[in-house]
Amino acid sequence: MSEATPRQFVAVLDFGAQYGQLIARRVRDLHVYSEIVPCDIAAEELAAMRPAALILSGGPASVYAEDAPSVDPAIFELGLPVLGFCYGHQIMAVTLGGEVAHSEVGEYGPAQIVRDGESALYAGTPDEQTVWMSHRDAVSRVPEGFVVTSHTDVCPVASMECAEHRFFSTQFHPEVRHTEYGRTLLENFLFGVCGLEATWTMDNIIDEKVAEIRAQVGDRKVILGLSGGVDSSVVAALVHRAIGDQLTCVFVNHGMLRKGEPEMVEEVFRDQFQVPLVHVHAEQRYARLLAGVTEPEEKRRRIGSEFWKVFFDEAQRIGGVEMLAQGTIYPDIIESGARKTGGKASTIKSHHNLIPFPEGVHFDLIEPLDHFFKDEVRELGVALGLPDRMVFRQPFPGPGLAIRIIGEVTPEKLEILRNADAIVREELDAYNERLFEETGERNSEHSCWQYFAVLPDIRSVGVMGDERTYARPVIVRAVESSDAMTADWAKLPYDVLGKISSRIVAEVPGVNRVVYDVTPKPPATIEWE
Ligand code: XMP
Repeated sequence: MSEATPRQFVAVLDFGAQYGQLIARRVRDLHVYSEIVPCDIAAEELAAMRPAALILSGGPASVYAEDAPSVDPAIFELGLPVLGFCYGHQIMAVTLGGEVAHSEVGEYGPAQIVRDGESALYAGTPDEQTVWMSHRDAVSRVPEGFVVTSHTDVCPVASMECAEHRFFSTQFHPEVRHTEYGRTLLENFLFGVCGLEATWTMDNIIDEKVAEIRAQVGDRKVILGLSGGVDSSVVAALVHRAIGDQLTCVFVNHGMLRKGEPEMVEEVFRDQFQVPLVHVHAEQRYARLLAGVTEPEEKRRRIGSEFWKVFFDEAQRIGGVEMLAQGTIYPDIIESGARKTGGKASTIKSHHNLIPFPEGVHFDLIEPLDHFFKDEVRELGVALGLPDRMVFRQPFPGPGLAIRIIGEVTPEKLEILRNADAIVREELDAYNERLFEETGERNSEHSCWQYFAVLPDIRSVGVMGDERTYARPVIVRAVESSDAMTADWAKLPYDVLGKISSRIVAEVPGVNRVVYDVTPKPPATIEWE
């Protein structure tokens, strides 16, 4: 590929948190690679990335607001096709000499557009269609060379284009599912207008990543910390596919994982993938470290910093290791705020600073997932042959069961919680499975998203057989959520709750009571600590 050839990738200029992410995901769903860049990126810097097309996202601002994000006008002179949505539509109009007016009547929600004339963007779609609108301001005059391609009752320029320069824009949001032909419009732009190819498939991605990792690593040794979580597992499988036994995985067992998890890590990586795996039994070390500690943030701090100590000790023991593989994913990079600083280099640097390398220790980092969204990481995991129970594992905090035991962590409490938690998971896995069979949807409205047991630091009176007991309660926490930012307690059927309760009391010694947490987030959090 010559330097001048555009890569098969679309740059999404993001005018407001979250808007760009959704668009990038939709483009990737169509098997075209897409990356998010800050909206104020200089045209020169953008050109150096060699995108094949640009998309200007929506955003919450008004184009005439004082601190409204703007765009380098020179991006319209790069000869690239440009598609703008909502704020992107308005900024395109204003930047190229049109006008945006503040209207009295806004449009929020579904709206009916009527097309005006022929347009490559609308190929294969009807003259009238339902779209999703969310705006008050509207384009009142299109720039020279542009024509109006659709309107609604209240919005005279629902979309416009300048076919000659391949500039298109819509006031509505094609990226949201409520826009009836949103996907077709995006396909028309990517494949019809830009002539891109749908080559960003899992198989191609794996081949590409494997080649990249091989080139980056050469004949050096790489180490990776396995946690049993999705991201580190997928990186391990991917890097192992690329460089085989040059990779050593270190699994630091802090003793606070759920029942069966250490065994699963061994089984998958040592037995199935045959990756050189060091299982560090640090259970005793962590037990000593946490003795007497009751404060949640102190538990987190101790567990986190100890991990790196154990890990670097192990790296030293293995010897000759020059590289460290990490499961950083795209949202980590975006959410670290680093993208505000611009290009990828500065992003990665700020993120890397989080690793507390000891004095005199240095590793070159590889982060092969740093441009993948979570669901893409899962897809990659499946394609690499990781088992579903690992790839679709629900979120589990790094400090593990330590923050689900209120107060001091002791071996006795860990044993109780681990056994109670296994019952909660078993019953709710089965419940989710039943919902799936009924609805055909993996994440139907009432399926549980995250569920576990919590052990509070109290005892209560009960009676078992003829005897009075004074034993521990277990709290069941089960929530519906999509991103953990907000959550609602799952409206579990009574028989499911009843079965969980009777099983825990019967099967877990030391427990005489089970309670269900019925608090949403906010005001509560999902975890108890
Ligand atoms: P909260 O409790 O804040 O949790 O509603 C939101 C999501 O984050 C997970 N969580 C953690 N994950 N380390 C992690 O890796 C932590 O210290 C931690 N605390 C909470 C939690 O399980 C939920 O999915």
